[in-house]
Amino acid sequence: MFFDKIKNIRSLGIVIISLLFWNCSPKFSHDVQSFLFDGVPVLDKVEVSVVKDSMSVADSTSMLITRRAYDTRNDLNLHEPYQKRECSSCHDRNAMGKTKAPTPELCYECHDNFNETYAVLHGPVAAGNCSECHNPHQSKFKKLLIQKGQDLCLSCHDEALIVADKIHKEIEEESCTTCHSAHGGNNNYSLLAGSCYECHDNYEKEFKFLHAPVASDNCSQCHGSHETDNPKLLIASIDNLCTNCHDSKELYKSEAHKKTEDKNCAECHDPHGGSNENFIFN
Ligand code: HEC
Ligand code: HEC
Ligand code: HEC
Ligand code: HEC
Ligand code: HEC
Ligand code: HEC
Ligand code: HEC
Ligand code: HEC
Ligand code: HEC
Repeated sequence: MFFDKIKNIRSLGIVIISLLFWNCSPKFSHDVQSFLFDGVPVLDKVEVSVVKDSMSVADSTSMLITRRAYDTRNDLNLHEPYQKRECSSCHDRNAMGKTKAPTPELCYECHDNFNETYAVLHGPVAAGNCSECHNPHQSKFKKLLIQKGQDLCLSCHDEALIVADKIHKEIEEESCTTCHSAHGGNNNYSLLAGSCYECHDNYEKEFKFLHAPVASDNCSQCHGSHETDNPKLLIASIDNLCTNCHDSKELYKSEAHKKTEDKNCAECHDPHGGSNENFIFN
């Protein structure tokens, strides 16, 4: 409610200012017209004024400043429709520049709808707040991000928890999106499909038979990355881990297991897969 009010006041302000200056300043008038009507030729010389490198959409910057920034800054990554001055693909020229639709609908007019791509959406994406991470016009960072990847993630997530475990620390400090999708995923924790195989042996190539959670790319059903108390980044000690999913009472009835109650499951079974259907080590 509060924000709606601010937006209305802002739009109203723009209307009033535009009316005041429409006849007084030919240059401003040009800016307003070329904002509202794509294709108005650019003025030869436009004064330079400074805008924040990564403009937050929450920052209320005047149209004039935005246009000048557009005309004069070359070191920014520009959103293609913005660069091509297709302002009206997002803004409504009949409503003094208000966006045609709110995010994420506006973005999904041209981009894949993440609701259709992923089973689970990342918090801010589920909430439709694309602009918590992206600037719709320009940014000095890649992919129109409002902050460098890492800083962006750690602006909402607790760094102390994320890099608690030493094993992947360096990778985690370098890039979160080596393992995570920023938008969503089809497994727990929005892990990118196959991302672990970028650096580790690919079990799909190695084994004839794959253990079900490995086959479905759910490494995180057994391994963590950030905070684990067990060796090999396991989320539980091996025996507890296996009996999370396998009924130990049933198991110990079978001939093969009768004498092995105290044994570590991974002494006989490869937890990932094998050349036989019970993944028994040769
Ligand atoms: C890809 C869609 C898109 C395109 C293309 C686009 N804009 Fe925007 N623009 C937005 C969104 C989203 C906002 C944020 C609106 C809000 O916060 O309510 C915005 C905000 C603005 C604002 C308000 C400034 C602010 O910080 O609140 C101005 C002025 C503006 N745009 C001008 C332009 C101009 C001029 C062009 C063409 C050169 C353009 N826009 C092209 C999506 C776009
Ligand atoms: C009118 C069509 C259109 C709309 C609406 C639109 N985009 Fe884009 N966007 C493009 C095009 C075209 C590209 C460049 C080609 C590509 O990467 O798909 C692009 C690229 C991007 C990129 C990648 C930039 C890069 O440097 O690689 C991001 C991020 C992005 N858009 C975010 C958004 C967000 C967020 C919104 C909503 C506020 C939005 N887009 C709305 C057309 C659009
Ligand atoms: C939590 C932050 C965050 C939110 C929220 C977010 N994005 Fe992104 N987006 C990213 C990051 C980070 C990348 C770059 C991924 C990479 O480089 O691997 C990206 C990349 C993109 C790209 C470029 C595609 C590509 O694969 O390079 C598009 C398009 C895009 N986002 C659109 C959107 C839209 C639309 C929304 C809102 C529905 C949105 N994003 C919400 C962080 C976010
Ligand atoms: C604007 C705040 C914000 C930013 C920025 C942000 N996140 Fe999140 N993230 C959230 C929220 C909110 C949740 C949902 C928490 C919940 O459901 O308990 C979440 C959940 C997650 C989860 C676990 C849940 C899941 O299955 O998706 C991961 C992993 C994650 N974020 C990674 C990232 C990464 C990587 C980045 C940077 C690209 C990032 N986040 C940036 C707010 C943010
Ligand atoms: C960018 C490369 C990279 C990616 C991606 C990566 N790892 Fe690692 N991983 C390493 C390195 C380096 C080590 C430490 C050296 C070693 O023991 O191999 C390690 C160690 C491990 C260990 C402990 C090995 C041991 O002997 O103690 C496990 C388990 C592991 N990673 C699982 C995963 C899982 C699961 C994923 C996906 C979520 C993943 N890794 C993604 C590079 C990577
Ligand atoms: C069913 C549980 C389970 C799943 C799912 C699982 N692992 Fe493991 N992983 C283990 C166990 C248990 C160990 C420790 C084996 C040992 O100590 O003998 C291990 C060890 C590892 C190691 C250390 C090297 C080694 O072989 O001892 C790496 C790397 C690893 N796993 C990567 C992965 C990746 C990548 C995935 C997803 C493709 C994955 N794991 C899925 C249980 C699992
Ligand atoms: C090497 C792969 C890898 C990298 C790099 C990585 N993560 Fe993760 N992340 C995981 C795995 C696996 C899980 C699930 C188990 C766990 O919590 O450790 C996870 C879980 C999470 C969760 C959910 C934690 C929870 O318990 O709900 C968040 C949030 C998260 N990661 C954020 C980040 C951020 C932020 C970065 C970058 C600073 C990052 N991750 C880098 C692999 C990675
Ligand atoms: C996240 C759940 C999960 C965990 C944890 C898990 N398994 Fe499994 N395991 C499965 C599923 C699902 C199957 C397939 C069962 C089926 O097809 O009936 C399976 C199959 C097997 C099989 C093949 C025989 C069969 O019934 O198809 C063996 C052997 C096995 N698991 C051993 C282990 C061992 C050893 C561990 C611990 C390192 C372990 N599992 C941990 C889910 C799990
Ligand atoms: C001493 C070696 C050994 C140990 C230790 C062991 N297993 Fe097995 N397991 C086997 C053999 C051999 C088979 C094949 C049985 C057969 O062919 O009838 C088997 C079969 C299985 C099967 C598929 C058939 C069934 O009985 O359901 C599962 C699941 C399984 N083991 C899980 C486990 C788990 C979980 C643990 C740890 C609690 C474990 N095993 C410990 C040797 C072992």
